[in-house]
Amino acid sequence: MKTQKKYILAIESSCDDTSAAVLSNDTVLSNVVATQEVHKDYGGVVPELASRAHQQNIIPVVHQALAKANIDKKQLSAIAFTQGPGLMGSLLVGTSFAKSMALGLDIPLISVNHMQAHILSHFIREDNPSMPPFPFLAMTVSGGHTQIVRVNDYFDMKVLGETLDDAVGEAFDKSAKLLGLSYPGGPLIDQHAQKGNPQAFTFPKPKVAGLDFSFSGLKTSILYFLQQKTKEDPGFIETHLADLCAAIQHTIVDILLDKLKLAASQQKITQIAIGGGVAANSLLRKRLKEAEKNWGWTTYIPKFEYCTDNAAMIGIVGYFKLLKQDFAQQNTTVKARFLLNEE
Ligand code: KG4
Ligand code: ZN
Repeated sequence: MKTQKKYILAIESSCDDTSAAVLSNDTVLSNVVATQEVHKDYGGVVPELASRAHQQNIIPVVHQALAKANIDKKQLSAIAFTQGPGLMGSLLVGTSFAKSMALGLDIPLISVNHMQAHILSHFIREDNPSMPPFPFLAMTVSGGHTQIVRVNDYFDMKVLGETLDDAVGEAFDKSAKLLGLSYPGGPLIDQHAQKGNPQAFTFPKPKVAGLDFSFSGLKTSILYFLQQKTKEDPGFIETHLADLCAAIQHTIVDILLDKLKLAASQQKITQIAIGGGVAANSLLRKRLKEAEKNWGWTTYIPKFEYCTDNAAMIGIVGYFKLLKQDFAQQNTTVKARFLLNEE
């Protein structure tokens, strides 16, 4: 028997991207993202401005997602939305919108944990399917998160380690800011590092026990290093930009790989799935390819548009929850902090 297609509208508004997607079961029909440019001048996300921009973007973005998918709102089976974690004011916009639309259409509402969504983005059906088999290790690396998770099943996940302070994307962005690069600086560090020597400078790696991370000490040591060098030579950063970027990138990626290697050996798992915006980093990707050869890992990275914050990943979780008839109520509230296995 052929099961009927379910169309899901998904909404993501946890940080500074307003996104809407339409899925037909586990296949993405559209995935529209409005990235907020307003934060560029501030060198980081300003929560109040993010919330206001979501309010401006949400209707056109949802409209565009439905139009691109060629789906009428009356065909929708459910609406999935990001409940948390994230910025309270940002989450409220997507959540309120999803609630009213579901109420108006009289269809189920599905709440989604953003961190589960990053991990389950690996299960979005593509032409060339390469989905990690259970159990696998997932590392989510972005501007807001740094986490290593053991994934036993779709909704059976255990956090093995996470950052105690800054997220890895923040480490890239804050280092870039110290170098005078614009926001977000991660991709710019990657770009300049291509022409640099990673051994030209050495920055200390944090000593954090187990599988947790810490990046704030690295930022401070880069700051002191640059302060001293620019006192001796005001043009230091400019003349050594490529080497500085290469050394910083090398240090950060080394920290990630060290922890991942420890997790893989402790858990005896060689299936490794990476997600989040920092998964775009070219050195991280290179090192993961090397790990396949040297350590027998199989690595998985979703398409880039499913790595950065997007509604398609909210939609795939929505689909799995729809199969379980796991629906949210109209009185559901947002959760700025939302643990991975929390209901
Ligand atoms: O997932 P994402 O788009 O948004 C968050 O949830 O934060 O991740 C954005 C982060 C930023 O910190 C950005 O600098 C970083 O991902 N990023 C990179 C690269 N591309 C994006 N970091 C290093 N190398 C890159 N190529
Ligand atoms: Zn995210």
